[in-house]
Amino acid sequence: MKIGLVLLLFVDSSVVVGEVVLDFSKDCPQFFAKPNGQVSPPTVFPGNQYRQICQRQANQKMSEFATLYDTANRIPVYSAYEYVGRAPCNRMDVWYIEPQLDDQNKGPDMQSDTSSTLPKPPRGNNQALNEDYVNSGYDKGHLYSVFHTNKQSCADSTFTLTNAAPQNPPFNRGQWRKMESDVVEIFRSKCSQNRAYVVTGVVPSTGNTKILVKNRVNVPSHFWSAYCCLDNNNQSISSGGYLAPNSNQMPTNVTVNILEQRLTKLYAINFVLFGGMC
Ligand SMILES: *[C@@H]1O[C@H](CO)[C@@H](O)[C@H](O)[C@H]1NC(C)=O
Ligand SMILES: *[C@@H]1O[C@H](CO)[C@@H](O)[C@H](O)[C@H]1NC(C)=O
Repeated sequence: MKIGLVLLLFVDSSVVVGEVVLDFSKDCPQFFAKPNGQVSPPTVFPGNQYRQICQRQANQKMSEFATLYDTANRIPVYSAYEYVGRAPCNRMDVWYIEPQLDDQNKGPDMQSDTSSTLPKPPRGNNQALNEDYVNSGYDKGHLYSVFHTNKQSCADSTFTLTNAAPQNPPFNRGQWRKMESDVVEIFRSKCSQNRAYVVTGVVPSTGNTKILVKNRVNVPSHFWSAYCCLDNNNQSISSGGYLAPNSNQMPTNVTVNILEQRLTKLYAINFVLFGGMC
């Protein structure tokens, strides 16, 4: 009996590589920059409304990126990942949800919204579903961009509704996409080994503007992104950020420090990126 319990605990802790977790800087630290050797996730907002996710696909042993999710607004706050170069991937356009947000007893992997084994409700209580976006006039704007992935499992895993927020379609396909492509050029020319830590997020609209179809999902007022590249001694060698309203305007190119100041105002909470070390 005792041995069984010990084994169970052992197995349990060894499979915690993806899912809703208490502390993603411990469970999936690989997605956060480590300037000066310190794991430095962006500010995690307090309260049970915000859930930390190590994003994992079924049949993949490892998680692919991390997300802080806002269950009240049903949009992410941000997704964090390491850019390691890009490779052409197929867009399967199967959208996933995170079952554990609605039922903590569910498994750690994301599930496709349509074939989910979780009945509705509770499915959707704490997250957006496909139906929220249908005929909404908004794109499901990726935070971790498909364009920044380098393998198919990774590309597939970005198609989770927990990595998406309602985005103005011309913006998603226009100026924001251009930024995602410009920044790849910066990584290639300024970062060691073409690697960069990236965090991309949104700011919920203060007037609580929602997608009108079901009136459940907040339409963010702003999209932002920041990156930090480290050298072999864990020192920042290149960093920067972008901020744009959710309309098709060119994102403002800012330093990480200026972005932190703007986000601190917009979120009305002290917001730190990369531990203030990039
Ligand atoms: C860089 O940080 C990593 C992760 O904390 C650490 O393992 C490594 O020893 C550090 N390298 C240097 C040269 O400081
Ligand atoms: C911001 O713009 C300047 C001037 O165009 C450019 O040199 C710099 O690399 C840009 N920085 C970022 C973070 O895009």
